[in-house]
Amino acid sequence: MAMVGSAVGLGNIWRFPYMVGEHGGAAFIIVYLICCFIVSLPIFFAEAVIGKSTHKDTFGAIEELVPGSKVKNIGYLPILASFIILSFYSVVGGWSLDYLIRALAGGFNGRSIAEAKEIFAGVSSSPLENVSCMLVFLGVTALIVVAGVNKGIGRFSKYSIPVLFLMMVGMAIFSVRLPGAGKGVEYLLRPDFSKLNGKAVAAALGQSFFSLSLGVGTILTYASYMREEESILRTGWWTAIFDTIFAIIAGFAIMPAVFAAGIEPSAGPSLVFETLPVIFSKLGFLLPVIFFIAILIAALSSSISMLEVVVTWLVDQKKTSRGRASLVVFLCAAILGTLCALVPRVFGVCDFVSSNVLMMIGALVFAMIVGWKIPRERVMELIPSRFFYMLIRHVVPIMILAIAITNLL
Ligand code: PHE
Repeated sequence: MAMVGSAVGLGNIWRFPYMVGEHGGAAFIIVYLICCFIVSLPIFFAEAVIGKSTHKDTFGAIEELVPGSKVKNIGYLPILASFIILSFYSVVGGWSLDYLIRALAGGFNGRSIAEAKEIFAGVSSSPLENVSCMLVFLGVTALIVVAGVNKGIGRFSKYSIPVLFLMMVGMAIFSVRLPGAGKGVEYLLRPDFSKLNGKAVAAALGQSFFSLSLGVGTILTYASYMREEESILRTGWWTAIFDTIFAIIAGFAIMPAVFAAGIEPSAGPSLVFETLPVIFSKLGFLLPVIFFIAILIAALSSSISMLEVVVTWLVDQKKTSRGRASLVVFLCAAILGTLCALVPRVFGVCDFVSSNVLMMIGALVFAMIVGWKIPRERVMELIPSRFFYMLIRHVVPIMILAIAITNLL
């Protein structure tokens, strides 16, 4: 459940539905599923094999598997990536908190989209509001992590993720029944194969990496806590299936409502913080409240997994206590988060470097270690599937290099 919580996040809610519509509806979903199956799921398995076989933090695990060489320093990259993502993710988490408070106060009632744009511009440019909400979000993340893997992360995920699912399913049922919602359903499902090109495949792959939290050590770190009898294959399949179903349900909760209101969809902040609050508040007081609670739960269950990567590294390698490590990471992320909150360019650079560069490098490294470094028998013990072993060894590295080249071009 914690792995599902890490996977299900802002990526599912504000990126996936828009990407589907932009890149050819059902045709994109098919490409996305294929990418998940032949590239992302194998990377998930590879990361989990490293974590489960070493029971160490990201750096320690790589050091154990690639000993005595400079290569082991590559282990710092995923930890850095997790830290950077945590910092800018917390800014968005802070906005969600801010919006939940506004929704509770009925702040979107009777507003127009133009007014909502002004509200968002106000929130995102107000240093005090922006930074204080980010700090609260980051603080709650740290408190859950301090409570420990079972009592904090495990318990939070166990109860909040089912609630999150129910909320989204309820919203989707509500949304598709609105008058004029049909166009939104069509936007998500009409297959348009003419839009499928190299860029769409790169987008599908990038989205599935981000959505499954790959290449930054979160899956590795969570897997390091797995018990011997727990199956990596089963965990990976369930995480990927839930993550994808959730993304599709989020699409049905969001796009039909957007079209029913006669608005063109867009991605990211403008969709979640400008269009949707206005549309949902027209449909009742409760809907925007539920929507922002759902976003907060999704964001928190992901941010705790990013923080855990850095905390586990500090606890294992620097021999600090969990509490002190969480405090140190909280303070450092608060500094970078403040910069992200105040300077949009820093936010953009952090997003680009972590999602497009570090994540890809991390995924490649994990696949190479499992495919070429760990003895085949050991890998097969943990993931008894010759097919996935072949994918990890050959297909994943080739695909990542191909995507890197496409992105560079
Ligand atoms: N998977 C999360 C989402 O979809 C983001 C994430 C990335 C979480 C990397 C952890 C690590 O929003």
